[in-house]
Amino acid sequence: MDVLDRANALARSGRTVFHLEAGQPGTRAPKRALQAAQQALADDKLGYTEAVGRPLLRERIARFYRETYGVGVAPERIVITTGSSAGFLLAFIALFESGQSLALAAPGYPAYRNIALALGLRPQFIPCREAEQFRLTAKAIGDTRDIDGVLIASPGNPSGTMIPADELEAISDVCDKRGLKLISDEIYHGITYGSRAQTALAFSPNTVVINSFSKYFSMTGWRIGWMVVPEDMVRTIERLTQNFYISPPTISQVAALAALDATDELDAHVRTYGANRARLLAALKDAGFGAVAPADGAFYLYADVSPFNIDAATFARRLLEEAGVAATPGHDFDPFDGDRWIRFSYAGAQSEVDNAATTLVAWCRALPRT
Ligand SMILES: Cc1ncc(COP(=O)(O)O)c(C=O)c1O
Repeated sequence: MDVLDRANALARSGRTVFHLEAGQPGTRAPKRALQAAQQALADDKLGYTEAVGRPLLRERIARFYRETYGVGVAPERIVITTGSSAGFLLAFIALFESGQSLALAAPGYPAYRNIALALGLRPQFIPCREAEQFRLTAKAIGDTRDIDGVLIASPGNPSGTMIPADELEAISDVCDKRGLKLISDEIYHGITYGSRAQTALAFSPNTVVINSFSKYFSMTGWRIGWMVVPEDMVRTIERLTQNFYISPPTISQVAALAALDATDELDAHVRTYGANRARLLAALKDAGFGAVAPADGAFYLYADVSPFNIDAATFARRLLEEAGVAATPGHDFDPFDGDRWIRFSYAGAQSEVDNAATTLVAWCRALPRT
């Protein structure tokens, strides 16, 4: 957020700034969603809905699981949330007692740790290095003592790497055997460049899955997501979400329902991300970065800055001030090794990523190197 603030301040002062720091699509909500929302503004009184969301949307998401993954999920197990961020809060409160410990991958999305800490849980990082492609494995979870639950994310932020289906199954097994609560963040599903992502629901009905309309569906500001919870947790989640939020935003539920049928438009975005990814991967190589995480999905490249002999925070600050390219240093994603890594987002327009890549290469080539 500090990088974003500074990038915006520079842009306001008239500098050209390329935004490779933002973790959100550069596109609007799909046309169908916008039309449905406009119609609802005219016709619908847009009052509160059921706390767990409108039945039609929950049924449509159940169909999405059948069609996308071949997995049957009862609509009653689907809870519509105010973005996936609300899903984490609800899941952590429902699954854990204060003082219990939640295993998280480092690097990972910083809000997991911060929400857990705010609730009095103990986040316990499992370092995931290049050798593990920055992913949690069943073995690493099996080797970690004194934990009550595990959160996995695939494709992950900041790395974009994906946990293959067989490893996902092994992780589910180890969690079921040890009685560990498993939460699977599937927010980047739909944005993959090789094999498609499989849902953790395919392997255990005990897993809590969290998803959102923010990324593939290009609807960040609509604040709408969902969770799939085990049957015996539905009532608890319903009571919590009723008290916290009353209901998820009504107009966003209407738009989300329409967005689920906008795959042609949304898949075109994924093709743009794919072209941006290829352009930026080539640029990072030309520019002289070290290792780059295998970007199986999402819209991030996580790259090693150590060949430039500066830490990632300094690198990001100078890159923004001197070249006008905004990117996110790794420290917030990984308290152990994050100073070596920087995250580039390629969720913007192709022209912006192209210009940013050219500028980045020229700037990096002028830096002293080991
Ligand atoms: C891995 C991951 N999970 C969850 C979120 C939160 O998304 P939202 O609350 O918009 O659904 C983000 C946002 O960047 C993310 O990267």
